[in-house]
Amino acid sequence: MTHVAVSVLNADLTELGRICREVEAAGASSIQVDVMDGHFVPELAFGPQVASAVARNTALPVEAHLMVERPRGFVGAFAEAGVRDFIFHVEATDDLTGLCSLIRTAGMRPGVAIKASTPVSMLVPHLHMLHMVIVMGVEPGRGGQQFNATCLDTVRVLRHEVTARGIETQLQVDGGMNDATAPLAVAAGADALIAGSYLFRHPGGYRAAVQSLAMAGQRQRP
Ligand code: DX5
Repeated sequence: MTHVAVSVLNADLTELGRICREVEAAGASSIQVDVMDGHFVPELAFGPQVASAVARNTALPVEAHLMVERPRGFVGAFAEAGVRDFIFHVEATDDLTGLCSLIRTAGMRPGVAIKASTPVSMLVPHLHMLHMVIVMGVEPGRGGQQFNATCLDTVRVLRHEVTARGIETQLQVDGGMNDATAPLAVAAGADALIAGSYLFRHPGGYRAAVQSLAMAGQRQRP
């Protein structure tokens, strides 16, 4: 079964609690809170308070995706907010090992996000330390962008390396996920899809959107 994580970046924030409850009921596997500092990406978005509000309105794991220059400084705040998975960008640290250790000590599971343009060789030696890897299907910073299929090369390499090592690191693709792109991501080796716009725009509602993505991916399972 292909897991579906819901990004609330483009959600109606006046209805965030209800949306969390509804996407949980719709079968989503987790909820992603995108964090942006205006430096690593030009945009600003969500802090620990929003992550805490999400965590209070769902039993699903909450994952924080930090698109920030200095992720180390935020570990404590997001742990306190009730985040389960703390995901930082490989492009934003020179001490991946130390940061993963700090995240685990704080009681969270470490993940790393990687842009399609970043050499995957930066990540491969560290895969065994990671609960998950997020491969960006779009340029970090905004929802609703077109899918960049070059990210699939990164997914394929990571799938090969994870399988060759016999480890459980989960591979997620984030951004531009819809009925057409979900099968491509799963065929390349993704375990989970992160979607925002597709879900909030789906005419059939959250359950139809979640099921459609999960099944679109399922058809591609090798
Ligand atoms: C972009 C974010 C994505 C985004 C979801 O920086 O990380 O999670 O909100 O993308 P869409 O809206 O394309 O599903």
